[in-house]
Amino acid sequence: MTDQQTNWESFDGRIRAAKTAEELAAVEQELFGRKAGAMTLALKALHDVPEAERKTAAATLNTWKRTFEELITLRRKELASPSDDMLRMTDRIDVSLELPERERGHLHLIPEFIREVEEVFGRLGFDVATGPEIETEEFNFNLLNIPRDHPARDAQDTFWLKTKNPEDRLLLRTQTSPMQIRYMQSHKPPLRVIAPGKVYRKDSDATHSPMFHQFEGLMIGEDVTLANMKAVMIEAIRTLVSPTAEFRFRTGFFPFVEPGLEVDMRWQGDDAASREGKWLEVVGCGMVHPNVLKNCGIDPRKYQGFAFGFGVERMIMIKHQIPDLRAFFQGDLRFLRQF
Ligand code: DAH
Repeated sequence: MTDQQTNWESFDGRIRAAKTAEELAAVEQELFGRKAGAMTLALKALHDVPEAERKTAAATLNTWKRTFEELITLRRKELASPSDDMLRMTDRIDVSLELPERERGHLHLIPEFIREVEEVFGRLGFDVATGPEIETEEFNFNLLNIPRDHPARDAQDTFWLKTKNPEDRLLLRTQTSPMQIRYMQSHKPPLRVIAPGKVYRKDSDATHSPMFHQFEGLMIGEDVTLANMKAVMIEAIRTLVSPTAEFRFRTGFFPFVEPGLEVDMRWQGDDAASREGKWLEVVGCGMVHPNVLKNCGIDPRKYQGFAFGFGVERMIMIKHQIPDLRAFFQGDLRFLRQF
């Protein structure tokens, strides 16, 4: 077979069109087979080409030879990489497969509890309000019937802020009670509201932290009584802590209520460190003092009502038998994962 007689283009086409590795190997054999390969024979036949034409003939043949070699290598690679059909079979995602167990994040138990509080009081018709953590002396103390020299101020060791003018006395709020004032100044009775948030006091031990959470509550109307207050307190404690929670009401003094009451809850659990059987003060409450109503432009002869302040961490401590309040803020995952 001579060069002129061989249709090299057809080999080119067949290499490109080979659909399997076997088909490609067959074409390769036809071209480069040691005994009968078309290229092998053509190269051998160069001997018989007259000298004058041999050089050009050899150059042409060599060009084809290299082309075929490259084409075959290329096509072999293509055939070795998976086809779309193949991929459709092997790359399928099996949605029925179970995923490995992954750890999920969750709310810290304080915001989680506050959500519950909002839900429970929401069902009782209470609105939710929030206010500033940096307060004025006026809202945090004066308007709540706690004047500057009142001994009740000593009970709340205050973080004062430095201000340019010493008369603008700013502080980190020591209680959520200023929200009573803010809400009464901007809403007309009858009203029901709770106000959860952070409060600050210079204090730190197993039941005190310099930052902790409270939620304030307020209900004002024409015929809101102490009995209504007790009913709301009992409902809140039973649903938020436990239906079998043990608690007691005691008289207590807060300048912004008259009469004032405190609610203690009994420690549960058998851990020696849990102060089993002891009482922990969790709530302050009472009938809103007439002076406070007057300070907010509400006529105490027409309206009356009650206010309350719950200690969030303390309620959670009783609920989950957590002996030390500081555990809430240490960020220890072993503690947090338990809830
Ligand atoms: N603000 C008080 C405190 O932090 C708690 C309190 C007592 C709130 C009586 C009230 C209340 O609304 O009526 O110690």
